[in-house]
Amino acid sequence: MRATPVPETMLEAALDPSALDTRPVLGKGVNVRHGTILTLEDINVSFDGFKALTNLTLYIGVGELRCIIGPNGAGKTTMMDVITGKTRPDNGVAYFGEQFDLTRMSEVEIAQAGIGRKFQKPTVFEALSVFENLELAQKTDKSVWASLRAKLSGEQRDRIDEVLQIIRLDSSRNRPAGLLSHGQKQFLEIGMLLMQEPHLLLLDEPVAGMTDAETEFTAELFKSLARKHSLMVVEHDMGFVGSIADHVTVLHQGSVLAEGSLEQVQNDERVIEVYLGR
Ligand SMILES: Nc1ncnc2c1ncn2[C@@H]1O[C@H](COP(=O)(O)OP(=O)(O)OP(=O)(O)O)[C@@H](O)[C@H]1O
Ligand SMILES: [Mg+2]
Repeated sequence: MRATPVPETMLEAALDPSALDTRPVLGKGVNVRHGTILTLEDINVSFDGFKALTNLTLYIGVGELRCIIGPNGAGKTTMMDVITGKTRPDNGVAYFGEQFDLTRMSEVEIAQAGIGRKFQKPTVFEALSVFENLELAQKTDKSVWASLRAKLSGEQRDRIDEVLQIIRLDSSRNRPAGLLSHGQKQFLEIGMLLMQEPHLLLLDEPVAGMTDAETEFTAELFKSLARKHSLMVVEHDMGFVGSIADHVTVLHQGSVLAEGSLEQVQNDERVIEVYLGR
């Protein structure tokens, strides 16, 4: 093989490493050169000897909408705990993009790097208006009261308006969040996540307790968020999974049991045995 001549720009780059960094960068600088936003490899988590995750290996592509299914206790929530830094794995690799080692970051650092998580129970500020909830969720170093007193820039106001449209709460913008329906509170909380412009959104059983209409809107919402964001959605509602997923991962006893289209995993004998055929 012939040696490739070194262009001058590369020599300059050797002196200034940042000059060589032509890799695609998403938003706030998550490096996703190989198109992978999340890498989990051989993750193990045990609680007092009980193995919640066993050599879990899973990759999420940039802009992907991935559904995670699996029986109770399969380790789905534990996996999200590892990704968000709430639980430290015993060993294994967990990377956000190429440069963020999630096993070495605090929960706050992980959130700031661009991973947003929605828990099942909505945690909105009930006494504040929908608009104020979004305002508070906006990225800021200020305290709650300082944020509410500070004047919003035009750009910040535009972003809140945009999110109000996305979550379909524009006409409720001045209502106290406490007066919203359960589903609307869930949408508001998703909106609060969106204010922080996360690259990766983790959603644990988002449609639990929702009406059919709300579930349908959630499906539309997630599909519209994919591509711009990457989504990992844990859900037991197969109708919902079928309406959004192009790629499904089945977890069982802390490992990946099957992966593919919903149709593929639904026809997988092992999946039928441990999960669907119950
Ligand atoms: N902090 C903890 N201490 C001890 N055991 C735990 C802890 N967290 C989770 N587990 C156990 O780990 C296993 C995996 O739990 P996990 O909550 O991740 O499952 P899941 O797939 O989210 O289930 P579900 O569908 O019911 O939400 C369960 O057996 C659970 O009891
Ligand atoms: Mg769970």
